[in-house]
Amino acid sequence: MQTVLVTGGMGFIGSHTVIALHENGYEVVIADNLVNSKREVINRLYEITGKRFKFYNVDCCDKVALSEVFRENKIDSVIHFAGLKAVGESVAKPLEYYSNNINSMLTVIELMREYEVHKLVFSSSATVYGMSEDVPFTEESPLGICTNPYGWTKWMIEQILRDCAKADPSLSVVLLRYFNPVGAHESGLIGEDPQGIPNNLFPYISKVSVGTLERLTIHGDDYDTPDGTCLRDYIHVCDLAEGHVKALGFIDSNEPGVEVFNLGTGKGTSVKEAVAAFERACGHEIANVIGPRRPGDLAVCYASTDKAEKVLGFKATRDIDDMCSSCWKWQVNNPNGLQD
Ligand code: NAD
Ligand code: UFG
Repeated sequence: MQTVLVTGGMGFIGSHTVIALHENGYEVVIADNLVNSKREVINRLYEITGKRFKFYNVDCCDKVALSEVFRENKIDSVIHFAGLKAVGESVAKPLEYYSNNINSMLTVIELMREYEVHKLVFSSSATVYGMSEDVPFTEESPLGICTNPYGWTKWMIEQILRDCAKADPSLSVVLLRYFNPVGAHESGLIGEDPQGIPNNLFPYISKVSVGTLERLTIHGDDYDTPDGTCLRDYIHVCDLAEGHVKALGFIDSNEPGVEVFNLGTGKGTSVKEAVAAFERACGHEIANVIGPRRPGDLAVCYASTDKAEKVLGFKATRDIDDMCSSCWKWQVNNPNGLQD
C-alpha cells in the first residue's frame, strides 16, 4: 500500500482528496498548520470513512518539524495543497504569500530529496494563464502575466518544479491547474469553510442562502457573454479529488518528468446561471443586486479538458446542480462552519 503525504490535507480540496485516496487504497498522512482549517476536520473524516488519519499539526515551512513526518512515515508520494489562496489578501500581504507558498514548496521538495521521495502532485491554478481571453485554455496556452502575488506564487512554483525535475531525472511531477472548485462531500460533513466575508462566488451565495449575508452583489452584467455576467468553469470538489488519484496513477505508469493537466469540466457557467442553480438546490430565492465589474475579472474562463481526458483518463461527472445541492447541504448543516 502506498503512503501519500497530503500537505494542506485539512483544507477544502485536501480533505476531499484524503477521502478519494482512502477509497482508492492509499494510506494517508496529513500535514497542516490549521492556518485556514479546523482540527474538527479530522473527526469529520473519521465519520465519513471510519478511518482516523494520522495528522501532524506542522508548518510546512518549518523544515525541522516537517522532517519528523518524513522520518516517522515511509512516504511514497506527496500531494502539496498547503498554501495561502486569497487573491485580494495576497495583494495586501505579498510578503506573507511569497514567503508561505514558496518556502513551503521548497521545504517539501528538499525533504523529498533527502528522504528519496520521487513523486509529487502540485495544486496549481488556471490563474497562471493570466488575463488572456483566448478560451478554452489548453495546457499549451501561453502562461500570462499574473494580476496578483497569489497567482505569481503558482507561476513561480511551476517553474521551480520544472527546474528541479530537469536537474533530478528521478523526479516525477504533475502540475494540476484547477479551474473553479466548488461543492462539498455528499455527506454534508465537510465543505468550504472560509473565514470572514467570502470573496468567491459559491461561499458567498451559500452564506446568503442561510441568511448569514443579506444579498449577493453580482460583479457586472455588461460583459460580452450571453447574459452579460462572467463565465467560469466550476468543477465539483469530489471530481477534483478524483483527479488527484488519477495523477498519482499517471506518475506510477509513466517515466519521470513534469506533466501538466487542467482540471475543469470544459463548460462555462455564468454568475446568473450559478445563482439560478443554487436557488433550485435550496428551494428559495437568493437575493442579489447587480454591481460594478470587479477589477481583474476575466469575462470568460474555462478549460480544454482534452488532455486530462485522453492522457490522465479524467472526466468530471458531476454537474452544476450536484455542486449546488452538495454545497447547500453542507451549508445548512454547518451554518457557522466548523468549530474547534
Ligand atoms: P484551503 O485554505 O482550504 O486549504 C489549504 C490548507 O493548507 C489549509 O488547511 C491551511 O491550513 C494549510 N496551510 C497553508 N499554509 C500552510 C503551511 N505553511 N503549512 C501547513 N499547512 C498550511 O484551500 P483549498 O481551496 O483547499 O486549496 C488547496 C490548494 O489548491 C492551495 O494551494 C490553493 O492555492 C490551490 N487552489 C485552490 C483553488 C480554489 O479555488 N480553492 C483554485 C486553484 C488552486
Ligand atoms: N462574483 C460575483 N459576486 C461575488 C463573488 C464573485 O459576482 O460576490 C463573480 C466574479 O465576478 C466572477 C465569478 O463570480 O465573475 C467567479 O468569481 P470567484 O471569485 O468565485 O472565482 P474567480 O474565477 O475570480 O477566481 C478563482 C479562484 C482563484 C483563482 C482563479 C483563477 O478563486 O483562486 O479562479 O483560477 F486564481
